[in-house]
Amino acid sequence: MVTGTPGVGKTTVSRSLASKLDAVYISLAELVERERLISGVDKARGTLIADTDRVSKRMQEIIKSSECDVIVDGHYAVDVVATKDVHRVFVLRRDPSELKNIMENRGFKERKLWENLAAEILDVCLWDAVSACGSDKVCEIDVSGRRIEEVVEDIILMLEGRKKCRVGIVDWLGKLEGEGRLHEFLRPF
Ligand SMILES: Nc1ncnc2c1ncn2[C@@H]1O[C@H](COP(=O)(O)OP(=O)(O)OP(=O)(O)O)[C@@H](O)[C@H]1O
Ligand SMILES: [Mg+2]
Repeated sequence: MVTGTPGVGKTTVSRSLASKLDAVYISLAELVERERLISGVDKARGTLIADTDRVSKRMQEIIKSSECDVIVDGHYAVDVVATKDVHRVFVLRRDPSELKNIMENRGFKERKLWENLAAEILDVCLWDAVSACGSDKVCEIDVSGRRIEEVVEDIILMLEGRKKCRVGIVDWLGKLEGEGRLHEFLRPF
């Protein structure tokens, strides 16, 4: 699984990884939209609300019927794939300054921008991954300032056991606080 806050680079990295490993690539966002696995629409955020029970059942079918490895791309992947089916969870992390630029370029503003930046700073996806799958299966990767190919290479090395898989590698809260810039990122919405 490849997870992380919106804009960290999950889709770009997962697609490239899947083609290198000859694995099946599943984007939860595409699956939910294509098969209408939704329970409603979040008007305040302008997004569809995934029906996680239906997505979980569908993921179970997909994994069971796949002859090769499956790479699941989505920030809530850990909530819709059974832990026993999970080999590794890669949590991509991006420096909040970089992430803010990416999000703004993608048109994120107001609540959507501040809520997602806060989620990155407060390690929400990492926490979800460790809670769901245990820290042994979770690998955190700092993608800040790195090329996609480098990140994909790191993931392959970790899958092969040639690079150590770790959690607790970034501390955005401490970094921003040290720079006196936390208020620029954690705003009420
Ligand atoms: N390593 C990288 N270096 C520079 N830019 C990158 C890198 N990875 C991704 N990007 C760019 O960042 C943007 C966001 O990437 P991407 O769409 O893969 O993120 P995502 O995590 O899948 O987001 P979402 O959760 O919204 O689907 C894209 O414009 C992509 O081209
Ligand atoms: Mg994506």
